[in-house]
Parts: sequence; C-alpha cells; structure tokens
Amino acid sequence: MALYSEKVMDHFTNPRNVGKIEDADGIGEVGNAKCGDIMKIYLKIDNDIIVDVKFNTFGCGSAIASSSMATELIKGKPLKEALALTNKAVAEALDGLPAHKMHCSVLAEEAIRSAIKDYYDKNGIAYDKAEFPDPTDEDEHHIEED
Ligand code: FES
Repeated sequence: MALYSEKVMDHFTNPRNVGKIEDADGIGEVGNAKCGDIMKIYLKIDNDIIVDVKFNTFGCGSAIASSSMATELIKGKPLKEALALTNKAVAEALDGLPAHKMHCSVLAEEAIRSAIKDYYDKNGIAYDKAEFPDPTDEDEHHIEED
C-alpha cells in the first residue's frame, strides 16, 4: 500500500486556498519545534462565519496537505465548528496519514485555533481561555493518534 493516500497527494500537489488575506480578521501562526515547519492561516470573518481562508505553510507535504484540507473544511463554516475541528478529523478527511506524520495535521488544528483567538483578541470578544491552550506549552501539546 502506498504510504500516502491519493487525497494527500492531491492536496499536496494542488493545495487549495494558498496565499494571504491582506485585510484578514484573524491570523494564526504556529510551528513545530522539532521539525521546524511553520503554518500561517488567515481568516476573513463575517457575522461569526468564516467567509474566506488562506494559508501559507513552510513545511512537509503532510503539513501542506493538512492545511489545504483544513481550509476546505472550515470555509463557510461558523467559528464554533472551526474550533471543534480536530487534527484527527483533518487526517480522516485526507483518508489517513502515516502515524509518524499525524503531528503535521496538529499544526492545522492549532493554526486555525490561533487565528480565531487572534480575531477574538482584536475585537475584544470574551472567550474561555481553557479553550485556547498555548501550543508552545509542551504539557498542553497533544497528538491524537489511533
Ligand atoms: Fe514537520 Fe510535517 S514534518 S509538519
């Protein structure tokens, strides 16, 4: 069996929503200290709905495919749904990632979360801090695998 699914290869070679939103309402940037890969997500938000999303990922193929798929999954969705998106759901939507590549999908979950937090902070919107653990805090860092 091939290491990567067709969907992973498709989103890696033809990533959706690549780029930058100049007047983004929320920007999230996260990195993985171990591999050094970086992901940046830009959100345009209207009435609690993600009306546009773009990303820039300087990282491995799995990270690029994960960010591409994650942006597809949250586009047009309410913030609440985007916040509920797990790295596992992103990996499942890609028809799976190899176990040692699951951490790449964590970047997508964290970047979205961080962009939404940025939006809340910029607009003085109250939120539950427990919902936004610091991704740089190793204790809070989790990788969902099964
Ligand atoms: Fe770093 Fe994939 S190896 S995100």
